[in-house]
Amino acid sequence: MTHGLRFGKSSGRTAVGARPAAVLAAAVAGVLVLTAGCTGPDGSGSSRDGRNFRPGADGVGDPYFPTYGNGGYDVANYGLKVRYDPADDKLSGTATITATATQDLSRFNLDLVGLKVDKVVVDGARSDYRHDDGELVITPKRGLARDDRFTVEVEYNGVPGPINSPDLGEGGFMATEDGAIALGQPESASTWFPVNDHPEDKASYDIAVTVPQELSALSNGVPGERSTDGGWTTWRWSERTPMASYLTTLVIGNYRVETGTHEGKPLVTAVAASLPEGGPAERSLDRTGEISDFLATQFGPYPFESYGGIALSDRRIGYALETQSRPVYGPAFFTSGPNDTVVAHELAHQWFGDSVSVRRWSDLWLNEGFATYAEWLWTEHDGGMTAQQSFDRAYQATDWSKPALDPGRSALFGRPVYQRGALAVHALRLTVGDEAFFRVLKTWTAEKRNGTVVTADLLTVAERVSGRTLRPLFDAWLSGTTAPPPPPPAS
Ligand code: TRP
Ligand code: ZN
Repeated sequence: MTHGLRFGKSSGRTAVGARPAAVLAAAVAGVLVLTAGCTGPDGSGSSRDGRNFRPGADGVGDPYFPTYGNGGYDVANYGLKVRYDPADDKLSGTATITATATQDLSRFNLDLVGLKVDKVVVDGARSDYRHDDGELVITPKRGLARDDRFTVEVEYNGVPGPINSPDLGEGGFMATEDGAIALGQPESASTWFPVNDHPEDKASYDIAVTVPQELSALSNGVPGERSTDGGWTTWRWSERTPMASYLTTLVIGNYRVETGTHEGKPLVTAVAASLPEGGPAERSLDRTGEISDFLATQFGPYPFESYGGIALSDRRIGYALETQSRPVYGPAFFTSGPNDTVVAHELAHQWFGDSVSVRRWSDLWLNEGFATYAEWLWTEHDGGMTAQQSFDRAYQATDWSKPALDPGRSALFGRPVYQRGALAVHALRLTVGDEAFFRVLKTWTAEKRNGTVVTADLLTVAERVSGRTLRPLFDAWLSGTTAPPPPPPAS
């Protein structure tokens, strides 16, 4: 789904653009087809109505992850129907993807890891496809003209598994004792459905998950009708606000699910049944509404149509993730009592990361810096250290030799991204003063809502709203290699 500013994708960042040799090949194929009037032998191009249909790129061009996502189209909606049987770990699914071509397309890719594809239908017609190395390459019967809306239906099945990334750890689908969990950043979605797997292409989702009736199946967004048939229950979820693919989740198992409302919107929390009733996980998740309301006073209106949280018991999940509208928390956060800081962190991501998303993974500090800063704000609000005290402490502990912006792929989730990111946010506050600072935050979340951004966009908004030159500040706090002097509080 395209929203507002988008420089990245439509600026001709295609496979052919990325590979000079392929440009030539495609051009040659194009000429051949013009005369021959048929598709090139490799399906690389065809022409019709004076158009030159070319393959979409096999990645969006993210320097850290060149094969993430794909080029040539823009997904508006994923309609997912999946069935999972914990008895044999098998998943079968149908994905109905509604998209718009952003170029004349002879073929295009979806990301899908480790599952077997049985059938692909594009606009009602069976299509040829090839599936290897996590790329599902689809060649529709007819080329898809730029700006045309089209529908892809993919039937698939298999035993899903996680993706192992050497420097970033595991992500994706994982069978558990009582069910399964699909979760992970920067990628995870492609382990359970075919997807344009990059935050640049956000879309709405309608998810139906069928599981044995004694289990729960949680996902993102507003809960729909639940129906049971022959011992299987279908749980329905719908996220109508554009969502980046890594923010999708699927959690199947024995959970205590509570459905209520908050601010007139559904609030769904789920706590693993093996965690103590009324215990620290439950008590922390119970503060979801209260913490969201506080953050809304700082950042602007809550950006989604539902609220919630999911607390896991599987100890292999050592992190929490800001899955849209319903963050997922690993059990370690709640072993020594309630932990509202992690809830504040994940809920802050609903504004910073989920509603306003990074267009390139190198800018992840825009998510983690603000989410960490939200911990400082919440702690102060809750009667703990002031944000200034948190700043002073983090300042002392920081290794300034490593940048927060563009930290390198293997340091994507390193301390600088989180801590230096938060320090930079507070330095901005000290420089422009509280009044301008909170206006910057609220302008940012309002103007960039449902969009994707890079750091330069924040600089532009912060300079415009505050009326100051802030480039040197951004450079020093995000990228400099020595400790910048803390700015004196603005007068
Ligand atoms: N983004 C998560 C957070 O800050 C943390 C995280 C980093 C993560 N890498 C991950 C979560 C991989 C899941 C998988 O809350
Ligand atoms: Zn985070």
